[in-house]
Amino acid sequence: EPDWIDVVAVSSLERNWVTRVDLGRRRLAIYDTPSGIFASLALCNHGGADLCDGYFDGHVIECPLHQGAFDVRNGQPIAAPATRPMKTFETRVENGTVQIRA
Ligand code: FES
Repeated sequence: EPDWIDVVAVSSLERNWVTRVDLGRRRLAIYDTPSGIFASLALCNHGGADLCDGYFDGHVIECPLHQGAFDVRNGQPIAAPATRPMKTFETRVENGTVQIRA
């Protein structure tokens, strides 16, 4: 049984948008989408901008600094200057709480 960590109440998520959650020393971006909830590290791996300040549409988060973009379902970069996959986390919902796999 893997370790699951409570992150945020589903009811606190902004619908079809990205929500910033600080978890210990890590800052996470939690994405609510029509096909489920996804999670990644919040800081862009291109230049360290906070993706939670970016623009979210469907399954794509666009970085606010240089407009690089990632697919939140798998972390893959889909627009330059983002070139490396972002760190994503497996998620699930338990009793109304979003959890990520440690
Ligand atoms: Fe995100 Fe440059 S910091 S694309």
